[in-house]
Amino acid sequence: MRARLERDFEQFRGGMPPDLAAHVLESYRIDLTARYLGFTLPHPIGKGSGQLSLNQEQLDTDRAAGLAFVVLKTVIAEDESGAQGMSAWAIHETRMRVERVRSASGLEGWTVNWKGRGWDRPFEDYLALVRTAGEMTRSGGMVAVPSVKYHLPKLDEEFREQEYRHTTARLAEAWGGDFLALEKDFSPTLAGDALADERDRILRWLREVPALIRRGAGAVPVRLGLKLMNARHGQPFQLDMVKAATGADLLVCFNRLWSEAQGVAYGGYDLSDRNLRALEAVKSAGLRRPPLSGTGNVESGRMILEYAKLGCESMQLHTFFQLPLSEYPATAGSRTQRALHGLVFHPESGLIAGLLDLEETGRIHRRDGMLRFLDVAST
Ligand SMILES: Cc1cc2nc3c(=O)[nH]c(=O)nc-3n(C[C@H](O)[C@H](O)[C@H](O)COP(=O)(O)O)c2cc1C
Repeated sequence: MRARLERDFEQFRGGMPPDLAAHVLESYRIDLTARYLGFTLPHPIGKGSGQLSLNQEQLDTDRAAGLAFVVLKTVIAEDESGAQGMSAWAIHETRMRVERVRSASGLEGWTVNWKGRGWDRPFEDYLALVRTAGEMTRSGGMVAVPSVKYHLPKLDEEFREQEYRHTTARLAEAWGGDFLALEKDFSPTLAGDALADERDRILRWLREVPALIRRGAGAVPVRLGLKLMNARHGQPFQLDMVKAATGADLLVCFNRLWSEAQGVAYGGYDLSDRNLRALEAVKSAGLRRPPLSGTGNVESGRMILEYAKLGCESMQLHTFFQLPLSEYPATAGSRTQRALHGLVFHPESGLIAGLLDLEETGRIHRRDGMLRFLDVAST
């Protein structure tokens, strides 16, 4: 199988097999089936919300590349009159710089330096994209779900419920079907904002926001993912946040770090180190918690497995889809295709190599001759 992997890696540099998961199943007897927000996915690799899911063209490219799911850029909620409690997040900024970043542990990774925030165009434009996403999801092409930032109050204030009602109802109508799948983003810029100074305030948001969103959707059931921030209150607080977020159907763990000094969000190995430590604490606590989706410096199949060992059933990448082309071993195809090639087939750092290693060390076992990705997350 290792020899086969070497061959596949070389062969697919110039183009990936049309059905990635079917190829892996047939050639290696490895079932890459994964889960995200109640959807069964062919494999665990998806795209996190951000600048790479702003329009239909990006969605079409990702679907054609065989990506498992995409979370649309975060939109800022509004009420009937168009007022936004979080309007400070709807700012326009296009310039992104992909840069090297060295972690505290001395590892060289990548980060995207960007000062922007949420969706900065009219809500109607976002709804048009959500319509496409809903159709794409139901047609079986690729799961694509919206993401929202709703009003978040101080402790002595009320939530602006009209925002929750108006925005959620419009999204449900646009996404279509008989339920709405949705992420609620608690972003690094929020973590860096004075609004997130108090722990009790954040915990209240996590306890109350799921019910507000569900009420906002009226009769339409909501599958709700909460994308948790890396708060500034130390690593043990990450566990407190997970404990408070029991009303969600999924937790996305955890959004980028916030640099107070530079006033920007960042990633790299500091992010994955911190996320994995926090997820270890969550695992050791043995909590009843919603299913998990991992995010943060996923730069190899092996990193996917580090998150999976701590319970993550799917992965959301952003930075890895933005690297200079010379960083991908593939020589043809879209960035998404090239990324998938390296993540899955790299003979040392890829997902297949990592799963074969886990089999060798006895961490997972073949059942009916088959290795299963989801067994990593559940054991
Ligand atoms: C330029 C940029 C914009 C982003 N915008 C959003 C956003 O609007 N909403 C959100 O939930 N996450 C956003 N993210 C976070 C990513 O979805 C992802 O969770 C995070 O960057 C960690 O993954 P990575 O290390 O692979 O980049 C953004 C990330 C980047 C780099």
